[in-house]
Amino acid sequence: MVKSVETLERLFAESHPKSIALYESGKSVMPGGGMKSLGYSPALYIDRAEDCYMWDIDGHKYVDWINNACAMILGHSPKGVVAALDKIVHNGIVFGAPNAYEKPIAEHLCKRIPSMDKVRFTNSGTEALMNTIRLVRAYTGKPKIAKFEGGFHGTTDDAEVSIAPPLENAGSDESPNAVADSKGINQSTIDNVVVMPYNDSEAVDLILRENKDDIAAVFYDPKSGNYEIPHEFLRFVANKCKELGIIFVMDEVKSLRVAYGGYQQLAGVDPDLTTMGKLVGGGMPVGAFGGKSYIMDMMDNTKGVTGISSGGTYSANPMTLAAGLAHMEEATPEVYDHLKQLGERLRVGLEDVFSRSDVPARIVATENIMSAHMTPDPVRNYRDILKFDREMRRRLMLGMMLEGHYARELQEITTSAPMTNDTVDDFLASLEKVLQDKD
Ligand SMILES: Cc1ncc(COP(=O)(O)O)c(C=O)c1O
Repeated sequence: MVKSVETLERLFAESHPKSIALYESGKSVMPGGGMKSLGYSPALYIDRAEDCYMWDIDGHKYVDWINNACAMILGHSPKGVVAALDKIVHNGIVFGAPNAYEKPIAEHLCKRIPSMDKVRFTNSGTEALMNTIRLVRAYTGKPKIAKFEGGFHGTTDDAEVSIAPPLENAGSDESPNAVADSKGINQSTIDNVVVMPYNDSEAVDLILRENKDDIAAVFYDPKSGNYEIPHEFLRFVANKCKELGIIFVMDEVKSLRVAYGGYQQLAGVDPDLTTMGKLVGGGMPVGAFGGKSYIMDMMDNTKGVTGISSGGTYSANPMTLAAGLAHMEEATPEVYDHLKQLGERLRVGLEDVFSRSDVPARIVATENIMSAHMTPDPVRNYRDILKFDREMRRRLMLGMMLEGHYARELQEITTSAPMTNDTVDDFLASLEKVLQDKD
């Protein structure tokens, strides 16, 4: 059944007066009242977090299944990260000079992701993509990039294309139009982005062949725990790029959390370049991009100007690098095994709980990330997503929050190291209750 959205909104408002007041008060100084969760109004303000738990400013405790958009694989305030930060906080914080934390984390990443010889750091995943887009154009001399409809690569202009286009502008299934996702993006930018459909090898083959002389690189978001895409499709795309002389870029900003060596390890591909972020910073703002020396060395301006550069006041700052290395050193293959085992328990449980309810759902999981899509049908691409029951997503989100689980709209929920089988079972029991509840 699930309580009605009106009842759930009312129950939320009654029990979260401080969050609601803070949200309202923010409207005078921030457009829309705040920075996060605006699409999930009424916003929930978190006071503190520890392990897999968070507490809001009204005093409610939640299990955190979002983990800062998949970034926090070890939960909140992991001890190694706190110790690393503590040292630097008392040691000057940041200086406009190289620091000794650069090499160890670069080395760690290149070992962890064997396709990468060399790496550079930025302040966000978006910046990593921004630099990589420029790099592939500079390296190949070609003007365009290609991406998949529904694929997300951050918020730089070239990347905010056809993430969620209105269907009436989106073109045919086999040959999608490039559509700006935001006002303010120039048409000349859109003209230099080629959009392809996920899960359609024939269409990809045709589009890449037709545009191979103009496409510098294909950017691939694996849509972990979101779309159902067999590894064969990714391997097909990577091989096609090799065949046609197009650079293949694997966007692992999110998917570095699905396996120790990222999604590329799961699928067995060897990309030319990889973009990263999120867990690489251990909770600090971060992005990174890396790959084959023969491409990355274009960023080396020490022996003379190569015509391409990347920098930034806070890029590779000691706090980010030390926290990131501590985070990744603690996120061992054994930790990934634990997250996967919990993920499998959660996936099976979700299938089971929804099958005993009157709410149709499609569970899509990649190791430790998963979504319960409000549709009975397969979710193989962006256009399948449009069939969702959006109101039901909102009802489940509010219902689960009121039960003490921060799982947003059951989209890209994640397990974290401090969780146990009991955490998963408690979530499933709460979901069962929410699904059976009536007004
Ligand atoms: C696949 C992918 N690429 C890029 C980004 C952008 O990263 P950031 O939010 O750090 O700019 C994200 C963020 O969610 C992402 O999931």
